[in-house]
Amino acid sequence: MISPPLRERILSEAAEILSRSFPLESRLQAVMQLLHEQIPHAHWVGIYWLHGQELVLGPYAGPPTEHTRIPVGRGVCGTAVAENQNQIVVDVREITNYLACNLETLSEIVVLIRHPESGEILGQIDVDGTAVGAFDSSDEALLQRIAEQIAQQVIAHRKYIH
Ligand code: SME
Repeated sequence: MISPPLRERILSEAAEILSRSFPLESRLQAVMQLLHEQIPHAHWVGIYWLHGQELVLGPYAGPPTEHTRIPVGRGVCGTAVAENQNQIVVDVREITNYLACNLETLSEIVVLIRHPESGEILGQIDVDGTAVGAFDSSDEALLQRIAEQIAQQVIAHRKYIH
């Protein structure tokens, strides 16, 4: 649950971080740290990039995970891509297609990062929570806006390097 004032504060801090003239990877790392610190109950926050039929771990904040590559369709992350929709899992113990990163995780949210024009899936933001039902539509709304900010930076970066 993210209150509107907290959402606006996080969004403006993320926008400020993303506008800095640091390499994209460092800016995304800083945004993951911001989300990790500011989202209540979040103990792991990270980006997975979609490469073909596989999700590849990008910048993250929280304990290291063994899930650095996840095939589309596997786990909550792979399901988001396979179903082409965000996922909110109230209690990870109740789903069979779940890849455990950490025993502390009881709930999870995955929000897709899409190309601003085509809607193509570029990747996703994954957040693990330490409480059952930690995430709701207010978290999804925040992460959706963050995903849009990130997508704009990724597209600008692609244009720059190509
Ligand atoms: N739990 C995820 C795997 C990624 S970790 O949470 C960092 C899943 O089921 O896809």
